[in-house]
Amino acid sequence: MSLQRNGESEIMKILGFKQTGWKAHLKMAIIAAAFAAVSPSTGQADELQAKVQYCKTCHGLSGQGYHGYFPMPRLAGQQPQYIENQLRAFIEHRRKNLIMANVAHALSPSMLSALAHHFKGLNPPPLGGGPRGDVTTGKRIYEEGVPESNVPACSACHGTDAHGQDQIPRLAGQLPDYFYSKLVNWTSERGQNTSMPDSSAVMGPTSHNLTKSQISAVAAYVSNLR
Ligand code: HEC
Ligand code: HEC
Repeated sequence: MSLQRNGESEIMKILGFKQTGWKAHLKMAIIAAAFAAVSPSTGQADELQAKVQYCKTCHGLSGQGYHGYFPMPRLAGQQPQYIENQLRAFIEHRRKNLIMANVAHALSPSMLSALAHHFKGLNPPPLGGGPRGDVTTGKRIYEEGVPESNVPACSACHGTDAHGQDQIPRLAGQLPDYFYSKLVNWTSERGQNTSMPDSSAVMGPTSHNLTKSQISAVAAYVSNLR
């Protein structure tokens, strides 16, 4: 209570009010009413900010991703529809990951979509980190696919700039070790709820038809893209 009073008199000083007599009390009452009126919306904004800070403890301060004990994927610049669909996939057991299942379960539906939109505006430089020698091969696979192995060009869906669209994820700037482990483990992590088939099915054949060295080549190529 005394803290709050001090806070209010600080505000009075900043606004240039002299605290004498009934006029000061009236002004104090007006300020108090104004603060009460804005509090519900700032409350929601505060909640979103608190959640965002929580996401960033793992996904990096600018959503750029993080090389930890296991790789934390980049979320910066990611398509909101993709993020939202993946958060739902963790909740609905379509996508398997213990950490994110626990994180996503605690989010309300409105918070889920607010969070999904938050990362779109972030644009930190990519962390990169893939083997440089693979980049030329990776670029060719990305743009032309591997026709003899029935692998389509990645650019056909993920875009020539690898920025994705709607439920198709951005790959530009993604951490290469995350990228690699997702494709190698695709059919044991995605599309895991047989009663809810989803968009992960389109990547199944491609993940199988690429060799491991082809996967690391594409991973190295996209990890450096902005
Ligand atoms: C304790 C660490 C941790 C926290 C906190 C965390 N995440 Fe994650 N997140 C991960 C890991 C690890 C993965 C990779 C899962 C995998 O390999 O499939 C991931 C994956 C994701 C993905 C999938 C990305 C992709 O490219 O498919 C999304 C979306 C995501 N997190 C969003 C969030 C949001 C939003 C928050 C905050 C509410 C959050 N995460 C908080 C660790 C965390
Ligand atoms: C027919 C369209 C299509 C083509 C072609 C395609 N993808 Fe995808 N890709 C998708 C969709 C849709 C998803 C999201 C799947 C989901 O919802 O789980 C995805 C997801 C991914 C992911 C997971 C990203 C993450 O953040 O977890 C990687 C990695 C990926 N694709 C790599 C590739 C590569 C490499 C190629 C080319 C060899 C390729 N894709 C070709 C549609 C496509």
